[in-house]
Amino acid sequence: MGKEGLWLENVTLKYGSVTAISQANFNVERPFFVVVLGPNGAGKTTLLKSIVGLHKPSSGKIKVFGLDPYRPKDLKKLSKIVSVVPQISRINTDIPLRAWEIVAEPLFFASKPPRVLGKKMKAVAIKYLSMIGAEGLSDKLFSDMSGGERQLTLIARALASSPKLLVLDEPLSMLDPAKKHSIVSLLWNLHEKNRISIILTTHDITPFLQEPIASRATSLLVFKRIHAVGKIREILRNREAIRNTFGAFAGLAEALAKIEVKGV
Ligand SMILES: Nc1ncnc2c1ncn2[C@@H]1O[C@H](COP(=O)(O)OP(=O)(O)O)[C@@H](O)[C@H]1O
Ligand SMILES: [Mg+2]
Repeated sequence: MGKEGLWLENVTLKYGSVTAISQANFNVERPFFVVVLGPNGAGKTTLLKSIVGLHKPSSGKIKVFGLDPYRPKDLKKLSKIVSVVPQISRINTDIPLRAWEIVAEPLFFASKPPRVLGKKMKAVAIKYLSMIGAEGLSDKLFSDMSGGERQLTLIARALASSPKLLVLDEPLSMLDPAKKHSIVSLLWNLHEKNRISIILTTHDITPFLQEPIASRATSLLVFKRIHAVGKIREILRNREAIRNTFGAFAGLAEALAKIEVKGV
């Protein structure tokens, strides 16, 4: 396999003397759908940051679509094709903007002057909000939204720049179970129909136990290093890797191993 998808070779990520991820090796061709699974503090966010040029490995190499996120020229190209949805708990939520304005902002800056944040842009923004069943939020202020509503708004915003690679940090954490399930299906459909590559983090595998995702998405079990790589269906059977990943949470490894994947 080449380096045209997502390619990591011996990647170590540190904060000073603390190692967040040690010696990660991973290669997947594009378009990919990668689920990074691990508990809090596993290094998931750091791993995502490293892929989009925000956390330079202390050793090792990363290539994303053949581009090196730590070469300024490559990063410029990469930033044109990547959309990042940050973890909702890490952003300032006191934003006096409505959902449609937040979704339209990247379109606004991408448009040619004279730029108008008017009716036309609003209509386009609503199109992206409706893609994820959130058109009802259009006129709601971000500061007045629930965590789940904010999350949906940010996903719609990320989609509005038509990315080739969508990077989402804990996109499901604030959603109720039904919404989690439907957002995962939606992301999978975007990947399948539009050939978008997606990498996301989660500490909850349940929303991914639906077919065809369980059989086809690539999953990484991460806790300070990559403990296993494989299809979700297979990875759940790898008790040792699950124990190494979630070890601190007694019984979870066993519970996961017993879960029956719904569908085919
Ligand atoms: N800015 C930082 N400075 C020092 N340590 C950090 C910083 N950010 C994260 N860490 C540490 O790195 C490890 C991985 O963190 P993180 O990537 O946020 O994990 P996750 O997203 O899986 O919860 C944790 O031990 C965390 O405390
Ligand atoms: Mg995180």
